[in-house]
Amino acid sequence: MALAVTSSSAAAAAAAAKSTSFFSRIGSSSDTKVSQIGSLRILEKTHGSNGALNLPQRRYLVRPLNAKSKRNDSIVPLAATIVAPEVTEKEEEDFEQLAKNLENASPLEIMDKALEKFGSDIAIAFSGAEDVALIEYAHLTGRPYRVFSLDTGRLNPETYRLFDAVEKRYGIRIEYMFPDAVEVQGLVRTKGLFSFYEDGHQECCRIRKVRPLRRALKGLRAWITGQRKDQSPGTRSEIPVVQVDPVFEGLDGGAGSLVKWNPVANVNGNDVWNFLRTMDVPVNSLHSQGYVSIGCEPCTRPVLPGQHEREGRWWWEDAKAKECGLHKGNLKQEDGAQTNGNGNDAQANGSAAVADIFNTQNVVSLSRAGIENLAKLEDRKEPWLVVLYAPWCRFCQAMEESYVDLAENLAGSGVKVGKFRADGDEKEYAKSELGLGSFPTILFFPKHSSRPIKYPSEKRDVDSLLAFVNALR
Ligand code: ADX
Ligand code: SF4
Repeated sequence: MALAVTSSSAAAAAAAAKSTSFFSRIGSSSDTKVSQIGSLRILEKTHGSNGALNLPQRRYLVRPLNAKSKRNDSIVPLAATIVAPEVTEKEEEDFEQLAKNLENASPLEIMDKALEKFGSDIAIAFSGAEDVALIEYAHLTGRPYRVFSLDTGRLNPETYRLFDAVEKRYGIRIEYMFPDAVEVQGLVRTKGLFSFYEDGHQECCRIRKVRPLRRALKGLRAWITGQRKDQSPGTRSEIPVVQVDPVFEGLDGGAGSLVKWNPVANVNGNDVWNFLRTMDVPVNSLHSQGYVSIGCEPCTRPVLPGQHEREGRWWWEDAKAKECGLHKGNLKQEDGAQTNGNGNDAQANGSAAVADIFNTQNVVSLSRAGIENLAKLEDRKEPWLVVLYAPWCRFCQAMEESYVDLAENLAGSGVKVGKFRADGDEKEYAKSELGLGSFPTILFFPKHSSRPIKYPSEKRDVDSLLAFVNALR
């Protein structure tokens, strides 16, 4: 848990946040002192020349991070304790409007707003690259903050060194998330250590990055990323500074339960680097060897002058959609496959161009004849769970991971998991015979009844889906 508490008041931080240039704050940063109370670090800012100590003006209640057991499952609780301000979260906040209001705000101001709103229910996702700027911004707000990192087990040694330097510099502990050992074993023992060069990075990324991320986010209400529009013209050119997370779920579960902040969305790479240099922030030494974007060691390489930074990631794959799954919501539909935002996506005339989803051996792809047969049977050999989907639907894309996980979970359990592509010519049939409302519609076909039962909830995490199946099987 990366937690720091400064003696500066929130008001001072907000005032600083509104300041137009970070250069005016250089002095205050370099005068920061760190002292330790137990495992809680207190940052004390001194007043430059006279050195007088600015004692804390705000008293914080100290409570253990793992006070709520539900949060333990996600980010590993540490012995350290957190001092959090009152969380003034509003259930009904209009984040689209907030994004518009903050569009021209400085990253510091956005960071301050994020930390103010979500207290200890928000954390910075730190990759070990130039997004260390986020930590500096959080530090400058004077508010407590948490940092987590997905340690895939395949990071460069230089990245681990940076993690260590950052922990020391800010007096924090990064909350590392690790992949499931059994899953990694399964992948590596069957396919070897470098399977991604053969059959793409998605499977390895899913195990080493996306699932640990999902676990982390299930314990939060918001997260902060270092995504920038200029990082990937193909996928990131429209990211807002704050949004309801289009893919992952937070503590309360269900669509809309997680907010994603991108404080540097509108900042370009050069300005991030000016900021890092000016503030003398520790950086990954790989940057001085030609690396720009940094991920895992086998999947990242330096780029040449003039090459785009994304060309150094998964270079053996199609350049258009280089997202590993952490920010899958950035992937746009192809022409004609826009959604109208409520799950009833407009018909995708060009949908053939969109890659199919739920592709795993544990999910049976049903043809029209296949699902007609299944729907006809009074007595089935085994119960089935089937998703009616369209690959271009962003709500279907958003539940891909959990559905694939679910299928893996149910493999060999006697419950079959399937998918039926119900857009295009199949839509009318699916609507009239299978009760398709919006995508995705999930149906359970019990063993001894022909009538499918529709999954009634918006919660599409594995546990909720599994509870549904177990209640009916
Ligand atoms: S990726 O999806 O291609 O790997 P990228 O490297 O551009 O992402 O980083 C964008 C943001 O995603 C980072 O600023 C960070 O917030 C988050 N992120 C990426 N990798 C990690 C990681 N290993 N641990 C935590 N956050 C990460
Ligand atoms: Fe695996 Fe490469 Fe993805 Fe890292 S970036 S998780 S090594 S495929």
